[in-house]
Amino acid sequence: MLTCFLQDQIYSYLGNLQISKVVIASSGSLWKEHRTFALNKLRSFGFGKRSIETNILQEVEELLKFIGEQNSKAFDINDVLHACVSNVTCSIVFGKQFSHTDPAFLKILDMFQENLQVSHGAAVMTWMPFLKYLPYDFFKFKKTFGNIKTIESFLNTIIDEHWKTYQDDNMRDYIDTFIAERKRRGEDKAGTFTDYQLTRTILEFFLAGTETTTATIRWAIVYLIRNPDIQTRMRKEIESLVGSSQLPRMQHRQELPYTEAVLTETQRCGDIVPLSLFHGVDKEVFLKDSEYHKTPSLHQI
Ligand code: HEM
Repeated sequence: MLTCFLQDQIYSYLGNLQISKVVIASSGSLWKEHRTFALNKLRSFGFGKRSIETNILQEVEELLKFIGEQNSKAFDINDVLHACVSNVTCSIVFGKQFSHTDPAFLKILDMFQENLQVSHGAAVMTWMPFLKYLPYDFFKFKKTFGNIKTIESFLNTIIDEHWKTYQDDNMRDYIDTFIAERKRRGEDKAGTFTDYQLTRTILEFFLAGTETTTATIRWAIVYLIRNPDIQTRMRKEIESLVGSSQLPRMQHRQELPYTEAVLTETQRCGDIVPLSLFHGVDKEVFLKDSEYHKTPSLHQI
C-alpha cells in the first residue's frame, strides 16, 4: 500500500521556503489529520462547488474590466490574473476579497511572486546549507525568508482579528473553522491545531492554489491565441448557450462539451505540475511486478 511518507530532510527545500510540516510537505498522522481537515473545510466553503461561483464571477468581472481598459493595446496579464485568483482563495480563507488597489494586498502578492522567481536559490540550501552564512544574499535566501516573514505577519494580523470577532454560530471562513476546532479540543488538547499551523496552512493554500491556477489560465490564453479557429468555435458554443450579455456559469458546464474539452486539453498540454509532489513508501512494497524499497521520496514519471 503506497503511503505518503516524506522525511524532513528531503523537504528541506520546501522547508527553506517555510512551507514545511502542514499538508504539502508533511507525512504520517500530522499530514492525515490536517489534510482531512483542510479538504473538508475547503469543500464546506464551496471549493469545487457552485457556492464559490459568485466570488469567482466577481473576479472575472474585475479581469474583464481590466482587459477592456487596455483599449486593445498589448499588456501583461500576469499581475491582474494573480490578484484575481488569489482573491478567490482569500474569499474562502479570510471570508473577504481585497480591492485590487489595496496596497497591503498588492505588496503580499508581489512577495509571493518574487519568492516563486527566486526560490531556486533556496533549493541550493538543501544540499549546501552552509551557503546561507555567506555575506550578501547571492541565493536570495534572506530575501525569500524576509518575504515569508512579512506575509506571516500580514496573516497573523488577520488571524488575531478573527480571534477577537469569532462567534460559535457564525463560521465566516476557513480561519473560523480552524479556531472552532481548536476550541472544541480545548487549549490543553489543541495538539497541532495551533496558530502557527494555521498560518502555515494558509501559506500552503496560496502557494499550492494560486500559481497552479494562474499558470493554467495563462496556458489557456496562449493556446487560444495560437489556435484562433478553436477560440472561435469555443466562443460560438458559449454564445449560442448563454448569449454574450452574461457570463457562463457552472450550471452551463454540462452543455458546453467543446469548451470543457478545450480546458481539459489545456491542463493536459500545459502540464502545470509535471512531477507532482514527492511521495514515498514507509516500508518495502510490492505492486504488480515492481518492488519499491523504503524511501522517503519518489517522483512520478
Ligand atoms: C489548476 C489548479 C491546480 C493544479 C494544477 C493543482 C495540482 C496539484 C497537484 C498535482 C497536487 C499533488 C497531488 C498528489 O500528488 O497527490 C496537488 C496537491 C494539493 N493541492 Fe493543488 N492544484 C491546483 C489548485 C489548487 C488549489 C486552488 C488549492 C487550494 C487552495 C490546492 C491545494 C492543494 C493541496 C492542499 C494539495 C496537497 C494535498 C495532499 O497532500 O494530498 N490546489 N495539487
